[in-house]
Amino acid sequence: MKHLKSRAATEPIQADLGGRVCIVTGATAGVGKEIARQLAALGATVVIAGRSRSRTEIAAAEIARDTGNGAVEAALLDLASQNSIRGFAEEIIERFGRVEVLVNNAAVWQTQRCLGADGIELTWAVNVLGPHLLTEWLGDALRKGQDARIVNVASRFAGGLDLGDVEFRRRRYNGIAAYRQSKQALRMLSWTWAERLEAGGVTVSAAHPGFTRSDIARDVAGWRGKVVRAFFQRCGQAPQRGADTPLWLAASDEAQGQSGRFWVGRRERACPYRDPAAREQLWEILARQSH
Ligand SMILES: NC(=O)c1ccc[n+]([C@@H]2O[C@H](COP(=O)([O-])OP(=O)(O)OC[C@H]3O[C@@H](n4cnc5c(N)ncnc54)[C@H](OP(=O)(O)O)[C@@H]3O)[C@@H](O)[C@H]2O)c1
Repeated sequence: MKHLKSRAATEPIQADLGGRVCIVTGATAGVGKEIARQLAALGATVVIAGRSRSRTEIAAAEIARDTGNGAVEAALLDLASQNSIRGFAEEIIERFGRVEVLVNNAAVWQTQRCLGADGIELTWAVNVLGPHLLTEWLGDALRKGQDARIVNVASRFAGGLDLGDVEFRRRRYNGIAAYRQSKQALRMLSWTWAERLEAGGVTVSAAHPGFTRSDIARDVAGWRGKVVRAFFQRCGQAPQRGADTPLWLAASDEAQGQSGRFWVGRRERACPYRDPAAREQLWEILARQSH
């Protein structure tokens, strides 16, 4: 199953991130937790952003202990709730005034159609609208950061976006289709944010972490869930490896200023989802969904 694993480079990243404020969403588990751990190991001030107080506090304490970095904090952020995102952004601005790194990593794969706190289909709310609003509401803080970077953890497993039905109101819901379209939308958003934040000196990238052992299939029920989870555990690469390219984009000198690009295994890859008209349409949909 070697072919499923990404060819992430393994040269250690040399950087001193002391004093840089880095936020990682979904840092309680999987790829996000390893990104946060490595950022902390490089000396950054790291905010572990998650929807569960206990899980974020446990992850922050573990990372602080493992890395010897006392500047690792837990903060509540539920990406399915616009109030929560706004509250989180306000807290960050009040606490730090600026942000140097935002890693939009959190995502869900939901087998059943369900709604988030604002009545929006959950996969779309967490994987697309949430990171979009977080980026918007932290935009000024990022512009104030020195060499600020946004890393959107996307996927090669992307496509099928229906801009006429992003919430599966007309189409029959399918969890895989909802996940794939969300990952296409996240890439499209990355290119629009790259353009919009260019003047502010903020680098925006999207990265595929590679097929990685994680709990992303936790919601898949029955025997299918057992098979899928076993497949992830047996065939996926270690989360440390999945974290490599997002971390490299967030921290390395080589990635500085390389905005608007899609990366796999520290290498730039072509992305077909760049049509300006479609991106504009997506932007308008998200504006209508936000309050
Ligand atoms: N694993 C892979 O093979 C693979 C491949 C390509 C791309 N990716 C991408 O990599 C990223 C990380 O995935 P993973 O595999 O590490 O998944 P994971 O282990 O399931 O981690 C997902 C994280 O997102 C958090 N999260 C879920 N809903 C949230 C919400 N409403 N608000 C805030 N946080 C929320 C989870 O927090 P809780 O602890 O609260 O559940 C968890 O920390 C995702 O963007 C995924 O699409 C993964």
